[in-house]
Amino acid sequence: MKSRLDGIGARALGDISSAASAGDLELVRVSVLGKKGALSEILKGIAAVPPQERPAIGALANDWKRKIEEALESRRAQLEGAELEKRLAGEQIDVSAPSRTAHLGALHPVTQATRRMIRIFGRLGFDVATGPEVETEFMNFEAVNIPKDHPARDMQDTFFMGPGVVLRTHTSAVQMRALRARKWPVRILCPGAVFRCDSDATHSPMFHQVEGLWVDRNVSMADLKGTLEFFAREMFGADTKIRFRPSYFPFVEPGAEVDVSCFMCGGKGASGCKVCKGSGWLEILGAGMVHPRLLELAGYDPHEVTGFAFGIGVERTAMLLHSIPDLRLMFQNDVRFLGQF
Ligand code: DAH
Repeated sequence: MKSRLDGIGARALGDISSAASAGDLELVRVSVLGKKGALSEILKGIAAVPPQERPAIGALANDWKRKIEEALESRRAQLEGAELEKRLAGEQIDVSAPSRTAHLGALHPVTQATRRMIRIFGRLGFDVATGPEVETEFMNFEAVNIPKDHPARDMQDTFFMGPGVVLRTHTSAVQMRALRARKWPVRILCPGAVFRCDSDATHSPMFHQVEGLWVDRNVSMADLKGTLEFFAREMFGADTKIRFRPSYFPFVEPGAEVDVSCFMCGGKGASGCKVCKGSGWLEILGAGMVHPRLLELAGYDPHEVTGFAFGIGVERTAMLLHSIPDLRLMFQNDVRFLGQF
């Protein structure tokens, strides 16, 4: 029995040292130490051993069991170490390899133009004010003196959300809110999205405006001109001139459309100028003196205070600045386009 035990032990040690993987080791362990393993089987026959020899056989069996377990453990550690070495060698990082170029985001040209306008008018003391995009019909129309039968209210232009509720068709909708929420002097700038049922190369169902409103004692048309002239120079360049053309908007009297001299051809109206099409002027905004009826509706005395208002198309301004040919490019979010600004 002793020699059988020694034979099993020696074979197990040999198998362990030649095992090439954790799986091989496990096979050896089961075949020797498992319930039906060689060592266990031998110990089952210990009853047949004469009693005086049993302690020695038992001690020998335990001795082999311990040696085999130790050998299994140390071989397992060896194999795991080798495995780790192999993995590390495979995972080497080449720190000198060129990196992938990161794609940097950029602000949308509409955001850039809006922020510039906020900065420019901010220097003249204009606060940013906001109003809801889903607006009451009253604030969008009546409150800015657009009566019920005005063509601007037509279903073709206005998105109706429900009875008395529209998507605001212009940022002028914020005028009455601002006038009622504050006490004069009111000097606000309202940038935001507006909505009209219209879509082609020069019209989009959603676009952006920046509304300005200044109500105070003695505000005059001269102030309006000075303010817009300052804006035009800051926005389009120091040599920019502006010109007022009489026009009609229900919420102002008198009203005007305002052109800036073409920054591309310097206002000379060169026949080949792509930006102004040879006219030398670019229309960028509507403006005028706040209609007395608005002031009254807001609870102001038109004999005490006056004001001016203006509305600038942001996409139009950005398109002129960057010579962007088609409004739709602004909303397609093609990174090849957006990456240029
Ligand atoms: N609300 C006008 C529009 O959407 C733009 C406008 C014109 C705003 C004249 C004004 C203004 O404040 O005085 O076309």
